[in-house]
Amino acid sequence: MELVEPKSRPGTWIFGYGSLIWRPDFEYDRKETALLRGYGRYFWQGSWSSRGTKEQPGRVATITEEEDAEVWGVAFRVSRKAMEKTKTRLAKRETGYDLMRCDVSTLSGEVICAEVYIARQRNEQYMGPTRTLQHTANDILQARGKSGSCVDYLIGLVTALRHHVPANRNPCDGHLVQLEGAVRWRLDTLALHSDRLLTTSQVDVQKGKQELGVEAED
Ligand code: SIN
Repeated sequence: MELVEPKSRPGTWIFGYGSLIWRPDFEYDRKETALLRGYGRYFWQGSWSSRGTKEQPGRVATITEEEDAEVWGVAFRVSRKAMEKTKTRLAKRETGYDLMRCDVSTLSGEVICAEVYIARQRNEQYMGPTRTLQHTANDILQARGKSGSCVDYLIGLVTALRHHVPANRNPCDGHLVQLEGAVRWRLDTLALHSDRLLTTSQVDVQKGKQELGVEAED
């Protein structure tokens, strides 16, 4: 008897717009670059563990509803069999994030209904916007947690987006480009690069800030 591959294999799509893009860390059977419309991506979620500590929280990405905004990411299809394990794993990893459903469009125009992790104001690690972009950049430059530095998270995100999304489709939104610019400029100015920052004590960063005449955070 001839075995026929079923046309649509049941599974759940998970759309990642942050670290899930380059480190999904779960089993999936299909992967598509996809666009979420009507949301903007900002570094407004605090991280007390993976990219920071309670004393020096890191800043990681979340999305917020915003007319005319768009967020590129990657959608992963998880089989029904692998879903329970994946959900348990992600619930632990995405602390503070709620799960919601939304439609995302693939590069070929296919519309996929996906689950998305979103960190809202009500979770205790939420940080929200800062007075200026420079303040957000400062938080990112100083934080480090169990998974590495916050700078590596930001650079990992922009690198992954540029890898997955064609350049003419605007892989990184304006906020992300500005943030990357501010962080890279500061690293260059302090003559630090990401590797060095991993072993740099806060004192060094603080000293660099003083040399630059950067005002203290409020
Ligand atoms: C995501 O990647 O979709 C959620 C945010 C993160 O884990 O960085």
